[in-house]
Amino acid sequence: MNICVVGTGYVGLVTGAVFADLGNDVVCVDNIAEKIEMLKRGEMPIYEPGLKEMVVHNMNDGRLFFTTDLSEGVVRSEVIFIAVGTPPKENGETDLSQVEEVARGIARAIDRYKIIVNKSTVPVGTGDLVREIIECNKRRHVDFDVVSNPEFLREGSAIQDTLVPDRIVIGAPSQTVAMTLLELYASLERPMIITDVHSAEIIKYASNAFLATKISFINTIADLCEQAGADVTQVAKGMGFDKRIGPQFLTPGLGFGGSCFPKDVDSLIHTLTNRGINADLLKSVMTINKMRARHFVEIMKSKLDTLTGKTFGMLGLAFKQNTDDIRDAKSLDIIDLLYEANATVKAYDPVAIDNSRKVRPEVIYCKNSYEAVEDVDALLIVTEWNEFKFLNMEKIKSLLKKPVIFDGRNLYQQDRMKRLGFEYYSIGR
Ligand code: UGA
Repeated sequence: MNICVVGTGYVGLVTGAVFADLGNDVVCVDNIAEKIEMLKRGEMPIYEPGLKEMVVHNMNDGRLFFTTDLSEGVVRSEVIFIAVGTPPKENGETDLSQVEEVARGIARAIDRYKIIVNKSTVPVGTGDLVREIIECNKRRHVDFDVVSNPEFLREGSAIQDTLVPDRIVIGAPSQTVAMTLLELYASLERPMIITDVHSAEIIKYASNAFLATKISFINTIADLCEQAGADVTQVAKGMGFDKRIGPQFLTPGLGFGGSCFPKDVDSLIHTLTNRGINADLLKSVMTINKMRARHFVEIMKSKLDTLTGKTFGMLGLAFKQNTDDIRDAKSLDIIDLLYEANATVKAYDPVAIDNSRKVRPEVIYCKNSYEAVEDVDALLIVTEWNEFKFLNMEKIKSLLKKPVIFDGRNLYQQDRMKRLGFEYYSIGR
């Protein structure tokens, strides 16, 4: 099938690469010329395991193209995916200006029947909006359909999530339209949900908000465990065996970050409030999440008496492992709180330093974990990178001024840390 994917961010680029890998002819469009030039040279604008190999391989085989020309992409394709950014506005509402712009571009270029698919996370009703924009701006008498096909990939495991998704959701105006999309995904042999456009749009927000709720829930239980002398790891394990609850997204820590959960929960709160529906549950999920970094820094302060004049070695800047993304990362909140308290931060992350340096130039960036902990007052674990799990702890101990660790991701066994002579603080244990 001839496919066009508009937007070469996480969702667009991974979707385009995977569709090409499945044998389709794919053209990826972006209005940022430097990004397209980079991609044509086989350089990735984001860090995502396995992505570069897949893009380069499919480009070399002639199935994957990059262009800044939206009309070219529209004309040569049967199905057009909109995968552009949907950032939040100040009030939490989703900014749909990029989606609207693309819809106008499609309207100008559309020359025969096409299916337009919303893949970006967009509030319920956006399918109708895209339909209306194309209808009002099209220059030829052609028919088209608008479908919602939300994406559930996670950064860091995006390729695997796209190739082996838990489910594929297709919200289409008719069975015939749904069949075309179904055909595109058939070779993945995954569960498919064919539904109407509005339901598909809500499925995406409901899923992200529910997962975010699980995280804030377990973080609340972690606070209780901390006070009651219990172990939240055991509690989560005990809960997770119940099939109705499940073990995933019950890892306590510094809270959820990234470009999806915080913005999507805020957007859903905005949608609910606008429609006069009580949004207190989700407002609490956000409030609890916002307090996590402060709670962590308060624990540090209570154990060290003061933060003023101290230096901390921070391991991890990315919002989670296997990504260089620092959008809404907890590291940023912690850095701000520590500098507010007149402390200094030395930091290391395997891939997110360049991004972090742009927004937090005051931090001292280090080449590796050991350099970051040299002569500092305590080690802070902020991102759950695998390489932090297997550090030489004897060496760490010898480099630290005092053997103190504040672990925001519960990476280590308490007994072992105690045996090694560390003063070790973790979350909810
Ligand atoms: C999330 C969803 O998991 C994807 O299904 C969805 O497609 C994506 O948003 C999106 O809407 O585009 P992502 O933001 O890449 O994916 O990352 P997650 O792995 O979901 O983690 C989100 C945050 O929650 C991270 O900060 C992570 O550290 C935190 N988290 C996750 C926890 O604190 N505890 C957990 O148990 C799980």
